[in-house]
Amino acid sequence: MAKKPPAAGRGMATRLRTAEGRSTASQRWLTRQLNDPYVKAARERGLRSRAAFKLLEMDERLKLLKPGMRVVDLGAAPGGWTQVAVKAVGARGQVVAIDILPMDPVPGATVLQGDFQEQEAEERTIAAMGGKADLVLSDMAPNTTGHTSTDHLRIMALAEIALDFARRVLAPGGAFAAKVLQGGTEAEMLAVLKRDFTTVRHVKPPASRKDSAEMYVVATGFRG
Ligand SMILES: C[S@@+](CC[C@H](N)C(=O)[O-])C[C@H]1O[C@@H](n2cnc3c(N)ncnc32)[C@H](O)[C@@H]1O
Repeated sequence: MAKKPPAAGRGMATRLRTAEGRSTASQRWLTRQLNDPYVKAARERGLRSRAAFKLLEMDERLKLLKPGMRVVDLGAAPGGWTQVAVKAVGARGQVVAIDILPMDPVPGATVLQGDFQEQEAEERTIAAMGGKADLVLSDMAPNTTGHTSTDHLRIMALAEIALDFARRVLAPGGAFAAKVLQGGTEAEMLAVLKRDFTTVRHVKPPASRKDSAEMYVVATGFRG
């Protein structure tokens, strides 16, 4: 169960002792990190990212992860979602994780490095799986450029690649969850999801920062 980390704002906020030499943006980022209850809770629980709570919260609500499942985790670094998935599927399950960046091993998972926009990365992922997947997760996000429409296009392109992959590797009844941007999925992608899955939802887990346009599309009941 995803126990809630303590609410922010209780007690004294941590202030940076020195702001010398830091840009305003990085100073703001660091101050936010230091005061973020999810960052603290992740550290306490040995989770590699605050993002791990997004998956824990979505799982708590939608029961996505079950023992014995085969899970693919796209855009997995530094590995918070992978850790959550490995624990949930247990020894009978399998987790294959891939990121364009190098990622430290997660015991119990197969960790690959590759650009998932490349065919060969997808082929290596399929080769590492022992069969059809029960759940395809994608938290893939490109580095933001600050140019809103460019960032939007790039993140949605990654979600579409993840969906394309999911439709090829999911077992009937399987599920797909991917990061998208607010406003939800584009009409074309939504039409594909509604055709191929019995239920499609948009979810903004509490751990997803309110000032971020990020949200997740969660599709269950793959028709195969
Ligand atoms: C928000 S982070 C994922 C955090 C992760 N879910 C966790 O809990 O630790 C997004 C990741 O997507 C990865 N990514 C971006 N573009 C990618 C691509 N083309 N192929 C594979 N990974 C990609 C980034 O390198 C980054 O590590």
